[in-house]
Amino acid sequence: MKALVLAGGKGTRLRPITHTIPKQLVPVANKPILHYVMDQLKDAGIKDVGVIIAPETGDLIKDSLSKNPWNHNFTFILQDEPLGLAHAVKVARDYLGNDSFIMYLGDNLIGESICSFVKTFEAENPDALILLKEVSNPSSFGVAVVNSNGKVKKLIEKPKRPPSNLALVGVYIFTPQIHEIIESLKPSWRGEYEITDAIQGLLDNGGNVLPHVLKGWWLDTGKKDDLLEANTIVLDEFLKKDIKGKIDGETKISGRVKIEETAVIKNSTIKGPVIIGENTIIENSFIGPYTSIGNNVKIIDSVIQNSVVLDSAEITKIDRLEDSLIGKYAKLHRKENSHRAYRVSIGDYSEIEL
Ligand code: TTP
Repeated sequence: MKALVLAGGKGTRLRPITHTIPKQLVPVANKPILHYVMDQLKDAGIKDVGVIIAPETGDLIKDSLSKNPWNHNFTFILQDEPLGLAHAVKVARDYLGNDSFIMYLGDNLIGESICSFVKTFEAENPDALILLKEVSNPSSFGVAVVNSNGKVKKLIEKPKRPPSNLALVGVYIFTPQIHEIIESLKPSWRGEYEITDAIQGLLDNGGNVLPHVLKGWWLDTGKKDDLLEANTIVLDEFLKKDIKGKIDGETKISGRVKIEETAVIKNSTIKGPVIIGENTIIENSFIGPYTSIGNNVKIIDSVIQNSVVLDSAEITKIDRLEDSLIGKYAKLHRKENSHRAYRVSIGDYSEIEL
């Protein structure tokens, strides 16, 4: 089975961060989201991976996969315009040939191996298998109605009165039949070729579409708060204590904390789960739980928790920064003495004085 990973798109909802970094490369616990997707595919024994890229961000995506610790056979497929998920499949038509394939959205993180999903497909041989997750706000998603015989009956995009609480997760397995349906698809009201319409087309043609309900967590990292939640969950579940770096005698470290070898920590308190990247300097500061700090960051005289700080950012004299996302090379400094908590989403290269 081949994989098709979608790493194109615009990422408008994660602006300003996505002005300079594709959303699939935004790090969660200091590792790009896309790399978790590649881990999942490796875990499921899939080697041939087609990656959909956009003209603006394609080179960054290629660079980030170039070390290829997964040993995947990558094929990069350019999608000139983000005309929808089904359009991405259309663009990959030649690459996919007559193989069944797993389609995985490059900004989705799931907390469960996809092995059983792939095995169900191989055992049941349906025309398509879709991954679903029970959610509390189904109106915000594509929703599936499942029959009493356990088959998908229909799909509805963002229903006002949801007929079920089963949302479509961004992972699907298709047989080549999907290509015929996509050929005859019309764009939706938002001008995109929708994958939900393609699956509905399969159903309308009498296709057998099976559901697989995910028990673990699922995060679509499209917005800032989703990203912070993903950071929290991943730090909670995967972070292992591993303290290296140069740490002075005044510093107190508790809980699960990972500090890279070249980081320097002086006179600070670090309360895990926290990850601190290479060449990062932390002085006279408190780094609280659920914080990921990238490489080459400087944090001086500040208090930070539940936040993601990207590479080369600088933060000084900020008494309390929480629930925040700070872009690469962003500078956040406070001049006067005020005691407020700040909540911010700051893009790369910005500079803010508070
Ligand atoms: P979306 O989140 O649906 O779209 P987007 O990335 O354009 O984001 P926004 O709505 O914030 O502008 O995309 C889901 C995934 O699929 C994401 O990894 C981008 C990718 N994608 C493509 O590769 N091609 C496309 O045409 C679209 C729409 C998305």
